[in-house]
Amino acid sequence: MNIAVITGASSGMGREFVTQLDAQQNFDEIWVIARRKERLEELRGQTRAAVRPIALDLTRQESIDAYAQLLAQEKPSVRVLVNASGFGRFGAFADGTVEEYGRMIDLNSKAVVSMTYVTLPYLEAGSCVYELDSLSSFQPVPYINVYAATKAFVLSFSRALNVELKPRGIRVMAVCPGWVHTEFFDHAVTDDSVTYFNKIYEPQDIIRTALKDMKKGKDVSVHGFRIKAQVLATKLSPHRFVMWVWMRQQRKNKKA
Ligand SMILES: NC(=O)c1ccc[n+]([C@@H]2O[C@H](COP(=O)([O-])OP(=O)(O)OC[C@H]3O[C@@H](n4cnc5c(N)ncnc54)[C@H](OP(=O)(O)O)[C@@H]3O)[C@@H](O)[C@H]2O)c1
Repeated sequence: MNIAVITGASSGMGREFVTQLDAQQNFDEIWVIARRKERLEELRGQTRAAVRPIALDLTRQESIDAYAQLLAQEKPSVRVLVNASGFGRFGAFADGTVEEYGRMIDLNSKAVVSMTYVTLPYLEAGSCVYELDSLSSFQPVPYINVYAATKAFVLSFSRALNVELKPRGIRVMAVCPGWVHTEFFDHAVTDDSVTYFNKIYEPQDIIRTALKDMKKGKDVSVHGFRIKAQVLATKLSPHRFVMWVWMRQQRKNKKA
């Protein structure tokens, strides 16, 4: 059985991955994972492939174990794995709770490692792994501090794993969008610490570029001219300066 496994499929970019992968590739089943089962159930009948909703909280080890058990039972060939579950929170480090930072690290970094690890035996030559990362992975970001650090981890992890898995013909790519119109902001915005958003993209465009970039053999996918220019500038500039620009953008906006 050829399948795709997509976490974070109940909304935003994970959901868009379901739509676009289903249109481009033939799968027997698409396993869609997130906490809100009713949202996952909505996907039934909307795709060519059969959808299997799997309600899991990926911050919990028992969820990873349940997924591993399902793989062992069904023994599928996983043609595509997408790790799109994730969340962030804007605000001063001291204003957050250590419990929430723990959940953020568990979901954005640890679950990406765990899901990739337990799926690996079921990936074959030609299989692809998309790790949902962020523009924030390229630089430290004050007021999105822990979130950006979890994404820096994903960038390093994905690129190195791509090299390791190359001899097996398995591709791993970090998808690094700038701001995207999704439910991400419903959770992230709690105060006015981050108010300047240079440009907000649509999930459809991010995922279209990601699928193309995978075909081109890239290990990092960045959509949009402005975001590509920002990544380049971030690589060429001292991070102290990059953070100064970020802070200035936020302050300038508050005065306006
Ligand atoms: N939107 C942006 O501006 C932006 C920019 C760069 C990177 N990203 C990254 O892109 C990825 C997708 O985010 P999005 O923008 O599409 O946001 P979104 O619409 O809020 O989607 C996040 C997904 O993660 C799932 N999720 C949250 N907590 C979970 C948990 N404990 N266990 C399992 N699933 C969980 C949510 O489903 P349930 O609530 O149903 O569990 C939802 O499907 C995230 O990693 C995010 O950090 C977003």
